[in-house]
Amino acid sequence: MKLTLKLLAASTLLAFGLGAQAAPLVIKYSHVVADVTPKGKAALKFKELAEKKLPGKVEIQVFPNSQLFGDGKEMEALILGDVQIIAPSLAKFGKYTKQLQIFDLPFLFNDLAAVDRFQASKEGVALLNSMEKKGIKGFGYMHNGMKQLSANVPLGSPTDAKGLKFRIQASDVLEAQFKAVGGNPQKISFAEVYQALQTGVVDGTENPWSNIYSKKFHEVQKYIMESNHGVLDYMVIGNAKWWAGLPPDIQKGLSEAMAESIKYGNKAAFEEDVDFRAKVIADNKAKVLPMSKEHLDGWRTAMQPVWKKFEGEIGKDLIDAALRANK
Ligand code: LMR
Repeated sequence: MKLTLKLLAASTLLAFGLGAQAAPLVIKYSHVVADVTPKGKAALKFKELAEKKLPGKVEIQVFPNSQLFGDGKEMEALILGDVQIIAPSLAKFGKYTKQLQIFDLPFLFNDLAAVDRFQASKEGVALLNSMEKKGIKGFGYMHNGMKQLSANVPLGSPTDAKGLKFRIQASDVLEAQFKAVGGNPQKISFAEVYQALQTGVVDGTENPWSNIYSKKFHEVQKYIMESNHGVLDYMVIGNAKWWAGLPPDIQKGLSEAMAESIKYGNKAAFEEDVDFRAKVIADNKAKVLPMSKEHLDGWRTAMQPVWKKFEGEIGKDLIDAALRANK
């Protein structure tokens, strides 16, 4: 009897006392691109930094390449609490806010530096915090880069796009953008793009260099046009309720790790865009074509009505603020 009691006491001690280190808080960070892209690198950096700042307290599990959730599901999963952090493209927030559609307007930003200035402006920061009531906490914007057009025919003047099927992200602005040049846009999730291009479900698409290279789109497209006609950036977001319920020390460590990881990813986006472009060219699968100013002006003019079409939903003030960031 005595012995049993002693054993019982010892095992209780082990379970609740000495031996029982609280298990680390598991945080799932899911995204749809490859580890080598700016977003992929930032996610891994976040894991490294958060686990260093909060040793034994958190375990960050990163799921790249749509392994956990593809982009049709990830937002819903975040709101349900099945994943804690995701970083969708700004084109994929249409269900939650119409204002973020601004980032899809064709030929709005001159370059990534202008996008960066707009995101840092008071208007940009306000957008970051605009979805709290819908259960979404915005941690920060993250860059990928300017988009390039690709197709199985060379695209010079905008009339060359007539009748072609283009894969687009789930964005009504991007739908209008391709319709403006007579194209036939189709919303397809990122994980299915390669196959859609390979099997001819679509004729062309648009993406920044890092995505083109890491997903081998250049192997299933004959031409890539250096159009830089729009931006593909992200917002890193978390489940707002989950975030609000975290202890202050964990919030602090995670916030710091997040800010640093975004900075790291953004640096990669600025510095490595040219490298991915060079890799696509070196692979010699798709032909990379420059676009003349005259041709680009043609696309700009053809797509200009898209701004007016979405001005009501986005807000003219916001569009003006974005234009100011070009200078
Ligand atoms: C796409 O669907 O093309 C992109 O949003 C993928 C990504 O996350 O960069």
